Order: sequence, then C-alpha cells, then structure tokens
Amino acid sequence: MLEVNGITKSYGKLMAVSGVSFRADYGETIGLLGPNGAGKTTTVSIIAGLLSPDSGEVLIEGKQVKRDTDPVKLKIGLVPQEMALYDQLTARDNLTFFAALYSLAGAKVKRAIADALTLVGLSDRAGDKVGTFSGGMKRRLNLAAALLHDPQILLLDEPTVGVDPQSRNAIFENLETLKKRGKTLIYTTHYMEEAERLCDRIVIIDHGKLIANDTLQGLHKLLPVTNVIAVELDHADGFKPEPMLALPEVKSAELDQGTLRVGVHDLSRGAPGVLRWLAENGHSYNHVSSEQPNLETVFLTLTGRSLRDSR
Ligand SMILES: Nc1ncnc2c1ncn2[C@@H]1O[C@H](COP(=O)(O)OP(=O)(O)OP(=O)(O)O)[C@@H](O)[C@H]1O
Ligand SMILES: [Mg+2]
Repeated sequence: MLEVNGITKSYGKLMAVSGVSFRADYGETIGLLGPNGAGKTTTVSIIAGLLSPDSGEVLIEGKQVKRDTDPVKLKIGLVPQEMALYDQLTARDNLTFFAALYSLAGAKVKRAIADALTLVGLSDRAGDKVGTFSGGMKRRLNLAAALLHDPQILLLDEPTVGVDPQSRNAIFENLETLKKRGKTLIYTTHYMEEAERLCDRIVIIDHGKLIANDTLQGLHKLLPVTNVIAVELDHADGFKPEPMLALPEVKSAELDQGTLRVGVHDLSRGAPGVLRWLAENGHSYNHVSSEQPNLETVFLTLTGRSLRDSR
C-alpha cells in the first residue's frame, strides 16, 4: 500500500531525515516513534507530499506521488501536528471548508461531514463554534477533517497531544474503528503506551535515522531480558538468588524487599525451571506474576537515552 524508500531531507546543514525506509499494508497500523526533533513530522510531511525529499521516494500502491493534483494523493489523509481549525466557524462549517479543499461537492459533502462527525462523536456539537470546544474535541474535529475524502492511508502526527485521558480514549476508539475498516494508519507519537496499544509495527527514528522497524514482539526480543518473573517469597530472609543464574534462560536474579525478580529471555522456557528450582530447594511463595519491559526500555536499550526528553 505505502512504501517509503530511503527518504532523506536536510535543512541547510541539519539532516532532518536520513535514508528512512519502511512499508505499510492495508489494515496495518505503523507507529512512528522518536524523541522531539527526531524527524517524525518531516517524514510524515514527505509522505503527504507537502515536502519533497532530497532523495528517495514514496510509493502509494506502487505509484509515486509527483504533483499536487496527482489522484494518488487523494488516497492520503493528514491529521497535522498543528491544528488547523477556525474558532469562529462551527464544526460543520469548518468541515465544509475542508471538503471544498478536497473538491468534494453536492450531496456527497453532507454525507461525508455527517459520517465523519459521527465517527468522532461530535454530531451533537456540529452547530457550535469551534472556539467553544475543549482541546480534546478540537483534536477529534481535526481527525474528522482528514477523513472527509475517505482516504485509504491516514497520517496522524501526534493526534493526542494536550488531550485529557477521556478524549484520548475516544480518539483511540475512532482509530480502532478505522483500522477494522482496513485503513492504513501511520501514527506518530512519543507516548510509548499509545504505540503499544495501537500499532502492529513500530518504526523508531532518532536524529533522522531509522534505528528499529519491527513488531512489538520483535522489539522485545532485542532486549537482553524480555520478561521478569516476580515471586513473592514466604521466607525471604537469608535467601540467596545467585545460584539461580545457573538455570537455563535465566539472565538475572535479584531479591527486592521479599520479592524475587528473575529476568528470563523466553517466559515459557524459563518459568518452569525457575519454579521447579524454588520447590526443590524448599522455598514457598504466595504470589507469582510476570512483567514485560515496555517500549521505553527498548528505546533506552537501542540509544542509551530516554525517549521523552532526549535530543
Ligand atoms: N522548516 C524547517 N527549517 C529548519 N529546520 C527544521 C524545519 N523543520 C524541522 N526542522 C528541524 O528538523 C529536525 C526534525 O524536525 P521534525 O519536526 O521532523 O521532528 P519531530 O520528530 O516531528 O519532532 P517533535 O516531536 O518535536 O514534533 C529538527 O531538528 C527540526 O529543528
Ligand atoms: Mg513533529
């Protein structure tokens, strides 16, 4: 559906995007992750055809988007990072304006506007001025504006920034609905938990370069320890975790306030041995759980820096 091949873009001496490639299929959601200034918006703008790359190309259904009037371009809907709405106009009038930009006309427009408002849950506020909307409602209207021409690919550039948890959830539900309809979503964010919830594949960029492109599971495999088994021991006094390091699959073992934490690479291969060892050595316990490190840890492992505040 969408193919990004080695795109590069510099601003003067600054290499904003450098040789980034990835693909996205029908019904697939790709998370585009990276810290501030990583090159996410530049990448999205190139895919949307708003910026031309210095080198590389973007193919949509195998075709390159060349000019502004190219019909292939209509396959794309962009939800920009900076919202573009008119406070003095009603929600419906804002959407009418965007529909005109996409050259939609006649009865089609009314239907498209009604459908988009229903999807984002703003039908009952259609006649209200956008100036009276909350930040979350504006974000949802921003999403509706990108959906009017029913694009196959939706580019979302940090669509939940400054949005309260309730509206964020509403946006997620809208996106899950679109995904079920087979849309291709490119979701830009620096919130790990969002990417973990929504995305089938994760592309991580840092300083303009692609540093990972994999499924969530695949990314977890990059970590030295992919699961932690936490065991609350009945009698932790004097317990020595070190001998456990000799067990297969066990990468780390430490005692933390009565809880034994054992890092294993593969949970299904590592856990039985760990529990058997505890039983054979007479250690009883009252609670066992497993924890997976999150994408934040993946990013930290790949770059040595934290995602939220690194540059
Ligand atoms: N028009 C421009 N002129 C000069 N430099 C720019 C321009 N647009 C972006 N840059 C620079 O390119 C780099 C990548 O910017 P970009 O906006 O793509 O990052 P981003 O990943 O979207 O960041 P954020 O998370 O803050 O939105 C940054 O160093 C930025 O300062
Ligand atoms: Mg950006």
